[in-house]
Amino acid sequence: PDPEPPTSVKLGFESLPTSMTDGCVVPPGYIAHVLAPWGTPINDNALPWDKNGNNSSNDLLNSMGMHHDGMHFFPLEGSSTEGLLAVNHEYIDSTALHPNGPTLVNGKRPAEEVRKEINAHGVAIIHIRRSNGRWDIVQNSRYNRRFTSATAMKLAGPIGGTDWVKTPFSPNGTQVRGTNNNCGNGTTPWGTYITAEENWAACFVNTGNRPAHQQRVGVSAGPTGRYKWETAAQDPSEVLGEFARFNVTETGASATDDWRNEVNGFGYLVEIDPYDPSSIATKRTSMGRFAHEGCAYSKPEAGKPLAFYSGDDSRFEYVYRFVSDANWDPKDAQRTDRLAVGAKYLDKGTLYVARFNEDGSGEWLALTGTTPGKDGGTLSDKFKTLEEILINTRGAADFVGATPMDRPEWTATHPSNGDIYLTLTNNTSRNASTGTNAANPRLNNVNGHVIRWHDEPGSNKFKWDIFVFGSDSGADAETNRSGLTDLNQLASPDGLGFDSRGILWIQTDNGIDGGRKNNVARATNDQMLAVIPGALADSSGTGPAINANNQSDLRRFFVGPNEAEITGFSMTPDHTSLFLNIQHPVNWPAYDTHDATVASMDTVRPRSSTVVIQRTDGKPIAV
Ligand code: FEO
Ligand code: CA
Ligand code: CA
Ligand code: CA
Repeated sequence: PDPEPPTSVKLGFESLPTSMTDGCVVPPGYIAHVLAPWGTPINDNALPWDKNGNNSSNDLLNSMGMHHDGMHFFPLEGSSTEGLLAVNHEYIDSTALHPNGPTLVNGKRPAEEVRKEINAHGVAIIHIRRSNGRWDIVQNSRYNRRFTSATAMKLAGPIGGTDWVKTPFSPNGTQVRGTNNNCGNGTTPWGTYITAEENWAACFVNTGNRPAHQQRVGVSAGPTGRYKWETAAQDPSEVLGEFARFNVTETGASATDDWRNEVNGFGYLVEIDPYDPSSIATKRTSMGRFAHEGCAYSKPEAGKPLAFYSGDDSRFEYVYRFVSDANWDPKDAQRTDRLAVGAKYLDKGTLYVARFNEDGSGEWLALTGTTPGKDGGTLSDKFKTLEEILINTRGAADFVGATPMDRPEWTATHPSNGDIYLTLTNNTSRNASTGTNAANPRLNNVNGHVIRWHDEPGSNKFKWDIFVFGSDSGADAETNRSGLTDLNQLASPDGLGFDSRGILWIQTDNGIDGGRKNNVARATNDQMLAVIPGALADSSGTGPAINANNQSDLRRFFVGPNEAEITGFSMTPDHTSLFLNIQHPVNWPAYDTHDATVASMDTVRPRSSTVVIQRTDGKPIAV
């Protein structure tokens, strides 16, 4: 049986009521500060953020990017008052980024606007320090750096150095420029950051014959890519196809102008060493190519392989596991050549996809040549090489009969018993013709759910149950299977993280910037809840575990401003500071204050931002 989680920890705050005010809400005795909103300079090469949108592309290259998402606090020498914060910048609000929104001149995007947008994406590493109770960026720290959708990165693992990724920029296929649409994140046992490339595919356009793998992953058929970046090609200032590369149509152009392979350099988990400012970000292609949401690792055990779990966030997509060939050596946690440790564990191994059976059991299906297809044959009948399988990970997973899920988002690992939790945010396309399955049992799943599993040691089998079903409190029993109340109703679970005490934090993204489409979103802004989960049920996986487990322990800790998603979770080692991100607010944060709870009286240019939560008495949070 699994070890029981610690029972000494108890939640020490009262659940918050719902909120629809345009500021952050925290429990009594807590404070919330705005830290590093987009456009905040990280060094002296950037001008201060301009509230009229007039910052340059160079300013953005030296400032926080837009739409903060996944995040992790890396302590400096174990400190809880000083460390490095890695922050994903998932996408952009081009209306807020430019003075009057994006422009198009004779069908072309201006090069400077495109560069500014490219620089607003990616990842920021910032050195932060707490003094007098307030966290702030250490300006010009040698650790401060930006990775954008143009920063040169290594391509490691099976795809690196193959014909799939040879381009005029990297004729030997070992590098690519940029990381894109970085959504959730992971970390590693050796102290690196993993950033997940999610909705990158539609940034590329192919107006010719899209290969099956491009169709399956959603490369745009045209007439343009999502941001129209490719329309800036041939601007006199363009450097080596920096804009042309987003058009991957086969043109018959000369080898020096052929960008068809550029798209194959995206769709990966990317490893960053935040502690080494000269290190090069590295794409770990062995971990699959799809709309990666995040990446949680299994509880490390000496002498055993490591496992990494990543959801593919689209309707009816799958959840994946990568298992290292190398067995875990705890001494590797202390090494300072962290990306070499990454190569040891992340470049060689086996990628699997999950099948959830109706009886609460499950199986990891290896995406390797000998695995049988669901309709006969083996993977090697359809895919000639491992590279081909990895490039079209979704196609390989279709072939072996993985279980189509209700949009797999973040994964998180219980710190003591090693259970893996996964948010399934929602799936309004699950209907009578698509059918349900035991792991995704509700039609028109507008509210989403959280599932969890435990791998059987040394095997490809697991057992699973559903932890909680999202629902509004007023729904019928068929929908509100976990018996949620006004004090913990939730929908569209997305961000997810365990702290080391065994508290699970669930964040929501109801997409309410596109309209309040479920009853929870009509009752409250997006939120973060906390719960102390018990052990996985021994029996069938179909019941809601949290109900049996005492659902009153699921408590609302935080509510965000209007229309904004709550995402990204990290804490200092002593649990006195909690970091989360507010993504795509509409009129927040208020000017001239660092207090995240203030609702602005004026119309402001909205800024995604990190928020730091602390207790006024300085004690550990939530207990
Ligand atoms: Fe970027 Fe699946 O959220
Ligand atoms: Ca997001
Ligand atoms: Ca997300
Ligand atoms: Ca989401």
